[in-house]
Amino acid sequence: MSISSFLTKKFLKSLFFPSHNRGEALPKGLIRLLKKQPGFWDLPELPEIGSPLSSSGLINDAQKSIAKKFNTKKCFFGVNGASGLIQSGIIAIANPGEYILMPRNVHVSVIKACALQNIIPIFFDVEFSLETGHYMPITKKWFTSVFNNLDFEKKRIVGVILVSPYYQGYSTDLEPLIKICHQHNLPVLVDEAHGSYFLFCENLNLPKSALRSNADLVVHSLHKSLNGLTQTAVIWHNGNLVEEKNLIKSINLLQTTSPNSLLLSSCEESIKDWLNKDSLDKYKKRILEAKKIFRELKKREIPLIETQDPLKIVLKTSEVGIDGFTADRFFYKNGLIAELPEMMTLTFCLGFSKQKDFIFLFHRLWKKLLIHTKKHHHLKAIKPPFRLLQTPEIPIGVAWRSKTYSVPLAESLGKISGDIICPYPPGIPLIVPGERIDKERIAWIETQSSYNKDLLNSYIRVLHN
Ligand SMILES: Cc1ncc(COP(=O)(O)O)c(C=O)c1O
Repeated sequence: MSISSFLTKKFLKSLFFPSHNRGEALPKGLIRLLKKQPGFWDLPELPEIGSPLSSSGLINDAQKSIAKKFNTKKCFFGVNGASGLIQSGIIAIANPGEYILMPRNVHVSVIKACALQNIIPIFFDVEFSLETGHYMPITKKWFTSVFNNLDFEKKRIVGVILVSPYYQGYSTDLEPLIKICHQHNLPVLVDEAHGSYFLFCENLNLPKSALRSNADLVVHSLHKSLNGLTQTAVIWHNGNLVEEKNLIKSINLLQTTSPNSLLLSSCEESIKDWLNKDSLDKYKKRILEAKKIFRELKKREIPLIETQDPLKIVLKTSEVGIDGFTADRFFYKNGLIAELPEMMTLTFCLGFSKQKDFIFLFHRLWKKLLIHTKKHHHLKAIKPPFRLLQTPEIPIGVAWRSKTYSVPLAESLGKISGDIICPYPPGIPLIVPGERIDKERIAWIETQSSYNKDLLNSYIRVLHN
């Protein structure tokens, strides 16, 4: 089968990213464009259009008017996902050899940018729930103790990365954390890939957007949490701690010289659609419907975890002795395609289209799952074994560039990793280049992979002694 024929395959329910639900919730402006002769719209950087970094043209106009609307200094569209813009943001903040403080559960794109530029991550651990197997939002108390343990004398820390919300929708109260960073004169980049729409909706009891919490750089994945096509993203710039010329330089460093005109138009349309009153009312309705779906499923005694993102349905499969990977295979076989299987849970994304019949279908399949699936007796989450603060033993960029050889993971104990070990989703790195592989981490990975055989490549590249 060719890729193009697979792309037309129908599923009963597509509960994954992108959030436009296979076109159903694409903005009208983009639908109009897509109805034209196929490919007609595939234009190069003509002077009238320009690019995200040009000082004139329609893209520049759109970015300027959107930034003005949100009272920020600048915003830039991106066509290599939130990943690409997060990486540009990091390179704008730090030079090679400088340190950035970040939670252990950052997205893998952060680690790749650090490896590329030899920017050294100082990882801080994050509270973990044994009940759900998920990282918890960061409290002010936790963050203060992280800061109290930092050695500012020995390490040139130049910035902080925060992630909120997480994949499952847990959201951190960012403002007090950003305040602590600013008291130390440190700029903050917030990876808000999963929370773009928080910026547009008031009065729905959604988390306060990072942009409204004084972050210096905020990255939104427009295909994950607005109605953009895959790869669309935006970075917002505020405050005086990140120099604009550095940001522009680093976007330019990583951006293709041929950004796709359809994707750039999708960036514009997906944001502007939420500024249109009628569309916004429709989306608000979808969010309220999502809250209702949650309540109805709870009433039917389906074990769900409530997070701050109503568009995520987090099914706690472990409650009935079923791991999330087994449940995922079951739902997939029955046409309900989820987004994120984990050991204890399975997360579904409702997206922005109307989810007709969802409650009925979900309930029916849940009952079938209970009858037909073998249960585990001892399904238990184990906290990933990290210290409160941890820096790779060898600078990440050096380890990344070193000569390595491949060994089975089980034989890598005590060696220095030249690899990123990072199951996707959720795309959180367990071992990064320059870290020594300890027995706790191997044990942790082995436990996880007994539930998910594909979870990791069982070989790892390590440095020669
Ligand atoms: C927290 C987080 N940040 C960033 C990204 C990258 O987003 P994108 O796929 O738009 O590059 C992801 C992707 O899964 C993510 O989960």
